[in-house]
Amino acid sequence: MKRTRIGAIDVGTTKVCTIMADTDGSIAGTRILGVGIVPSHGLQKGMVVNVNEAKESIRDSIRKAEQVAGYKMESAFIGITGRHVVSSNNKGAVAITRGDQLVRPTDLRRVLEVAKSVKVPGDRKLLHVIPRTYMVDGQEGVKNPVGMHGFRLDVETHIITAAVTSIQNLAKCIRGVGIEIDDLVLEPLASAEAVLSDEEKQTGVILADIGGGTTDIAVFKDNTIYHTSVLPVAGHLITRDISVGMGLSFDLAEEMKRKYGNVMPVQEENADQDQTLTQDGHSVSYRDLSEIIRIRVDELIRLIVLELPHTDYAKIVPSGIVLTGGSANLPGIAELGMEVTHLPVRVGAPVNLYGVSDTLRDPAYATGVGLLMWKMRNEDTNDIKAKQPESGLHRLVSGIFRLFK
Ligand SMILES: Nc1ncnc2c1ncn2[C@@H]1O[C@H](COP(=O)(O)OP(=O)(O)OP(=O)(O)O)[C@@H](O)[C@H]1O
Ligand SMILES: [Mg+2]
Repeated sequence: MKRTRIGAIDVGTTKVCTIMADTDGSIAGTRILGVGIVPSHGLQKGMVVNVNEAKESIRDSIRKAEQVAGYKMESAFIGITGRHVVSSNNKGAVAITRGDQLVRPTDLRRVLEVAKSVKVPGDRKLLHVIPRTYMVDGQEGVKNPVGMHGFRLDVETHIITAAVTSIQNLAKCIRGVGIEIDDLVLEPLASAEAVLSDEEKQTGVILADIGGGTTDIAVFKDNTIYHTSVLPVAGHLITRDISVGMGLSFDLAEEMKRKYGNVMPVQEENADQDQTLTQDGHSVSYRDLSEIIRIRVDELIRLIVLELPHTDYAKIVPSGIVLTGGSANLPGIAELGMEVTHLPVRVGAPVNLYGVSDTLRDPAYATGVGLLMWKMRNEDTNDIKAKQPESGLHRLVSGIFRLFK
């Protein structure tokens, strides 16, 4: 079978991760051929704030991956995140006017075009239009209406828009290093591809990717996307708390966090907790360090579940929360999450990878791996991009439908 080369670049606030692979089109048939991970510069809270610095980090990361893979990368799937990303659910409807009243693939395309024709302000761009569910003549919950009979086809979509300037800055960095963009993918959607099971997506689950600058959230239910959002609270704030609370430099606080950080409540009888940690001549108490981290993580977990519209979490997301991102490496984070939310909580890292993939088995690389999988998983879901401004056709189609109604 013919193999094609694919690439992914996760431009994070703390690291850039480039992955090169080849694939026969299936996830099982994907081999990782090159990985390049470098610290990132020029980003804040998930967004490019300095194009030249960001470009250099991206270039370094690609160079590293290319060295391992032994060939040049030409194009890649790119992750995007930041506070500028906004999501909403929208609807669209079309009439099936042909004699046989049979829903065909072209009707799916038409109804998505209608759902896509939302008014997007000039300073924003559509990133994803993902069909959630269809309705044929009022019958709800149809996953694939092709082949059904009806007069009217409705679709519910999840629409994600992003600030044009943020997209442009990121695109400039990527194109600036000679890489073509296959697609821009919202980061939590990518992370979800790498770590969630179909069953979790079906019953209801929150994916929370706690990175350095942002916590990216995607909620799935009934095997479809339910909600997405981006919180500007993540690992950097934990480090800042340690730095301010203990009078350490940011770098030393970061080192302490990674080496000794823990979020479990202090057990009184545990003598280990009274130990003093020494790093580069600075001493801090283990108990104080854990306490500072725990308070911030506790708050963050509460913010994550607050994303859900109701307080009845257990009903919406019985599969609970899956944590990814570098900060999910904090020991005890899943236990604290369960204590706070009374939901199942687990840490998700990419698994079942082939090739030079050892470094990627860490929650921090869920986004990068998920970007690779995005296309394979979403080939048939009709996630359509708004490439051009509204065409006359959308207006005509919706106009006809209004007349018909
Ligand atoms: N072992 C560890 N213990 C605690 N925190 C960790 C550990 N490893 C990484 N981190 C934290 O994870 C964060 C980086 O995570 P990640 O690599 O997912 O971020 P990113 O993708 O670069 O950023 P973002 O997605 O926010 O743009 C940093 O704040 C770092 O301190
Ligand atoms: Mg990230």
